[in-house]
Amino acid sequence: MIETKEAQFEARIERGEKIEAGDWMPEAYRKQLIRMISQHAHSEIVGMLPEGKWIPHAPSLHRKLVLMAKVQDEAGHGQYLYHAAESLGITRDEMTRALLAGRAKYASVFNYPTDNWADVGMIGWLVDGAAIKNQTMLAHCSYGPYSRAMVRICSEETFHFKQGKEMIVQYATEGTDDQKAQVQDSLNRWWWPTLMMFGPHDAESKNTPQLVKWGIKTKTNDELRQEFVDETVPELQAIGLTLPDPDLRYDDESGHWIFGEIDWDEFWRVVKGDGPLNAERLESRQNAYNDGAWVREAAAGFAERQQEMVAV
Ligand code: 3HC
Repeated sequence: MIETKEAQFEARIERGEKIEAGDWMPEAYRKQLIRMISQHAHSEIVGMLPEGKWIPHAPSLHRKLVLMAKVQDEAGHGQYLYHAAESLGITRDEMTRALLAGRAKYASVFNYPTDNWADVGMIGWLVDGAAIKNQTMLAHCSYGPYSRAMVRICSEETFHFKQGKEMIVQYATEGTDDQKAQVQDSLNRWWWPTLMMFGPHDAESKNTPQLVKWGIKTKTNDELRQEFVDETVPELQAIGLTLPDPDLRYDDESGHWIFGEIDWDEFWRVVKGDGPLNAERLESRQNAYNDGAWVREAAAGFAERQQEMVAV
């Protein structure tokens, strides 16, 4: 019996082979990857905005330099990921237009405001920590270009995570009363939006079954969220912080931290565009797209001229 292409593809996934850009793949596999990778890339670029705002207000030259390096890294992560998505046959312009038209998403966590300097540290510890949890999993993804982009991104995210954690630990243990209050206020505002980064519960996660079947995800949303909570809660409590979750308790039998229910109405409201800063974030991306039009035209004109010269 002649094996169908899909059967051959799935056997490759079974064997743990990497699918590369020129390989045959089901159209649904390609579309899922474009959806996920472009959303990931958009998240990296939009993710520059909440922290970028604080670069001019950093409390020291050292903190300014560290934050500048981190925000620049995020821009680079966006480029890696847009390139990985382009290997699937979509252009950068198509991805950007999809974002600006509301047809593509980015991580909802970046629609929340950064109200104080401690947010910079808390984003590093929580948001980048959650991203590392997710991205370490994606480094095993069946699509070669995505998994390789994750290896480089995870190594840089580890610096982002460590600088944020170091700042929060310092303020929470050695800081002034005002700094300690800022850190607790920051945790209160960033804890739940961070848990939302892992996506809906598995039972409501419409994409997970197919993504797991094809080896794009090797763990589910709830598995990664639970790992993150189990690792992070004891560390936050150890520096005297209180988690904003009255239902949080340690379960000896399972060895897990049981946490309260996420406000899924808030999650979907923000995902669907009605978050604190959704409009501002998209306006910022639209302005950047408009301001960059001359660069795109110049690059296209140069490429055209090069073609003409080659043709002569
Ligand atoms: N924010 C916005 N949309 C979200 C979301 C979130 N946190 N979680 C889920 N969604 C959307 C999904 O995109 C999907 O909508 P779509 O089908 O229209 O795209 C819908 O909600 C249903 O969710 P699913 O669980 O079915 O979707 P996935 O299986 O794709 O899981 C995900 C969601 C876990 C975010 C997964 O897409 C993923 O792992 N993406 C790659 C990693 C990524 O994008 N991370 C974003 C953070 S990057 C970052 O933090 C940068 C760092 O430097 C700080």
